[in-house]
Amino acid sequence: MASLGLRPGVWMALIVSVPLHAETDEGPAIAGVTAVDSHPQACVSCHIDMVDAGIDARFSTALRQWSVAAPDELVVVARATMPGGAKLTGKHPPASESLMDIPAACISCHATASGTAPPFARLMHLVHYTGEENHFLTIFAGQCVLCHKLNRNTGEWTVPSGPERLD
Ligand code: HEC
Ligand code: HEC
Ligand code: HEC
Repeated sequence: MASLGLRPGVWMALIVSVPLHAETDEGPAIAGVTAVDSHPQACVSCHIDMVDAGIDARFSTALRQWSVAAPDELVVVARATMPGGAKLTGKHPPASESLMDIPAACISCHATASGTAPPFARLMHLVHYTGEENHFLTIFAGQCVLCHKLNRNTGEWTVPSGPERLD
């Protein structure tokens, strides 16, 4: 049998390092892989108006705020992603048409080589994985698969895109 050359002790260390708070009978609950995917449309499945919790996480609401002035903490994070330290004004340009196709239409401006808009993958990974009391980590266990979906036939990973939910 092929061996990966890892000593048993190393495997044990890897197994112990897996977060234990999201378990199924078969091991860790990985959305869409070993567990039901709670957010199959990624961005637009999660960024909704949570009336009961009093949190309006919709992109339309955020974009309205960013077009006046983006929150300071967000601008700091967005600046950090800019290649060559290019400047950000902290004021988002008009982009309401992109609400019909999130994140594909966002990415059409936020390309890696844009120079004026923060590169999208970097921006997404920083806002969801850094900062004190980050709710993506504390509530959603930071799972990559809430955005990156596995095509079980081809092995391809993609981030699905679609319109903001209207309800
Ligand atoms: C499973 C839930 C979930 C998914 C899927 C998700 N997000 Fe988020 N997102 C969050 C949470 C929770 C936060 C708040 C993080 C924090 O506490 O700082 C957040 C923060 C953000 C912010 C920063 C907002 C601000 O005002 O600081 C942006 C922008 C954002 N998300 C865009 C996206 C986009 C675009 C996608 C898809 C590529 C996406 N999110 C997918 C839950 C999600
Ligand atoms: C028309 C092009 C365009 C589209 C479409 C667009 N953006 Fe932007 N975005 C920009 C530019 C340019 C900036 C830099 C603004 C600045 O100087 O602060 C920016 C900045 C941001 C920032 C950092 C905060 C800020 O305002 O500086 C976030 C977060 C963001 N965009 C998220 C999104 C999301 C989510 C979408 C899709 C719903 C989107 N953007 C669609 C061009 C665009
Ligand atoms: C909130 C949504 C979100 C989460 C969570 C997320 N990603 Fe991403 N990721 C994206 C988006 C959006 C792109 C850009 C896709 C594109 O350009 O088509 C991306 C691109 C990437 C890329 C290719 C570009 C690059 O930056 O090198 C890698 C690799 C990647 N993600 C790894 C990960 C890993 C590993 C995790 C978990 C630890 C993760 N992502 C979690 C949204 C997310």
